[in-house]
Formats: sequence, structure tokens, C-alpha cells
Amino acid sequence: MEQFTTIAEQRAWSRAHQREGKTIAFVPTMGALHAGHLSLIAQAKAAADVVVASIFVNPTQFDNPEDLAAYPRALPADLAMLTAAGVDAVYLPTVGEMYPDGYCTFIEMVGPLTDKLCAVARPGHFRGVCTVVAKLFGAVTPDIAIFGEKDLQQVLIISRMAADLNLPVEVRVGATLRDPDGMAMSSRNARLSPASREKALGLPRGLELANQAFKEGERTGMKLIEIVAGELLVHEGVELDYCDLVKLAGFKEIEHADDACVLAAAVFVDGVRLIDHVHLGSESLPVVIE
Ligand code: PAJ
Repeated sequence: MEQFTTIAEQRAWSRAHQREGKTIAFVPTMGALHAGHLSLIAQAKAAADVVVASIFVNPTQFDNPEDLAAYPRALPADLAMLTAAGVDAVYLPTVGEMYPDGYCTFIEMVGPLTDKLCAVARPGHFRGVCTVVAKLFGAVTPDIAIFGEKDLQQVLIISRMAADLNLPVEVRVGATLRDPDGMAMSSRNARLSPASREKALGLPRGLELANQAFKEGERTGMKLIEIVAGELLVHEGVELDYCDLVKLAGFKEIEHADDACVLAAAVFVDGVRLIDHVHLGSESLPVVIE
């Protein structure tokens, strides 16, 4: 596996492959890799001739400096996993390469995708995500880029950004991988003690119970939200950041559930922030990207 730390090296490698007629699929990450990331790599391998992954803990998307400092880092293990997964090149830019002195351009999305959920809970977060992803696209020049449905709002925003800015890349979505106990895999799970993880399980359990209630006919948003809150707030050290019902079409907040909506929640468990969501009424509804 090739490793590049500069934009020039990565771009030259990508260009050389594309000149030979090869397609590139790209999986951007912040490292501390787990099977969820590797499932995106597997999807990338099936989608294109060569695969590029990136590892960059992007400072501009952290609204809280302590969260950035505490973000798990595991580069040697990550590189071993990417090599074993058959990744062709990994892009590992430094903060200075991405944001040199004098840097002052950011991408700010407006509208329904960025006025709710994580966009409100983490001001500036998606500005940092859009900016870094556009910059990573500029260095890697992928034909296809794959993002996890686990971060639903993120993939919807990136897809919208790529369309709005006419970026020549096809954004695809990969399914959320979960541990056998139902927890969505996340790099942040590494920061949970066994006791904290037990509390955090209230998140997928609450969402699943709400889905069950939906299937049994419950449509009132507040009732569904109370079910999620009820599974979480029984524990000390657990704080619900948000829990909202959103219609996928138009990404509107709604008070009554219907067949194409998601119940999304963010929670702090002993200081670790976790997100998850469920498509109500449908187990494998494909993500609708507009
Ligand atoms: P990171 O959290 O490292 O996630 C990298 C990719 O893996 C994202 O597309 C995310 O949605 C996906 N992912 C995370 N957990 C997953 C799971 N359990 N199953 C499937 N896919 C999963 O998301 C980011 O990094 C950053 O915001 C980034 C896009 C790299 C920009 O900095």
C-alpha cells in the first residue's frame, strides 16, 4: 500500500491511474478504524479499479477542543488493517498540509440539511466536514466516494455539496455496521468503559423499541421520542443531546411519523458523544439522497 502525506504526491498518483483509464473509489476517515470503516473499503473495492483511503483527524470539524484532543488515534493498527483490506493508497496529510498559514476558505451549507440535529448541536461541525471533504476530493480526485449511513446527516450533506458545487464525484452510501449487541460501531466507542457501554446500549435499544412501537401503530413523534429518552435517561451520566423525527424528503422535522422518516438521536454517555438513528417501519430503506 502506497502512503502519501502531501497533496502533490496523492494527486500525481491518482492522475497517473486515471490516465491509464482506472477508476478510483475513495473512503475518507479519521482513523481508529473498525469493521464499519472496512465495510466501506470492501464496497469501494467492488466499485472501482483502485481504492484510496484517507486518515485525517480534521481539527475544523471539532466544536470542542477537548473532544479533538481525546479523539482516538491508532495509526499503526489502522495501516495494518488498510493493507490487509487491499487498499491501494492511503492519504495521510498533516494539519499543516491541509490548513497552511493563511488558510481562510470554508464551505458553509445553508438550508434544511444544516438547520437541525447535529448541525445545531455542534455549531460549525458541518462547515468543517464540508471543507475537509471538498479538499480531500481535490487531492484524491476520486470517481466515487463512499460514506457511511451511520452518519446520515453527513452523507446527505456531502452528497448535496457535491451536486451543488458540480464536483465530479459520485457519492455513495454504505450500510451501518453494528456489534452483536446492537451498538453502531464507532471510533468513539473505544472511549467507553464497560459500564458506560452498558448505558450507551440504551441508544440502539431505545430506537429499536420506538421502531417496534411505530410498527404497532404509534405515530406521535413525542411518544416515540419519549421511548428513546426512557431507555437512556434512567442512567446517571447520560444526557440526551437531541432526539428528533425527520422526514427524509426535504429533511424536515415532523411531529407525526410516516413511512419515509427517521428517528435520530445524539447522546452523551459519561462525556462521550454518540449518534444513531432508525428508519421507522422499514428495516432496509435505502437512503434517499436528493
Ligand atoms: P469517521 O468517523 O472516521 O468515519 C469515516 C466513515 O466511516 C464515515 O463515512 C462514516 O459514516 C463511516 N462509518 C462510521 N461508523 C460506521 C459504521 N458503524 N458502519 C458503516 N460506516 C461507518 O465521518 C468521518 O470520519 C469524518 O467526518 C470525515 C467524513 C472523514 C471527514 O473528516
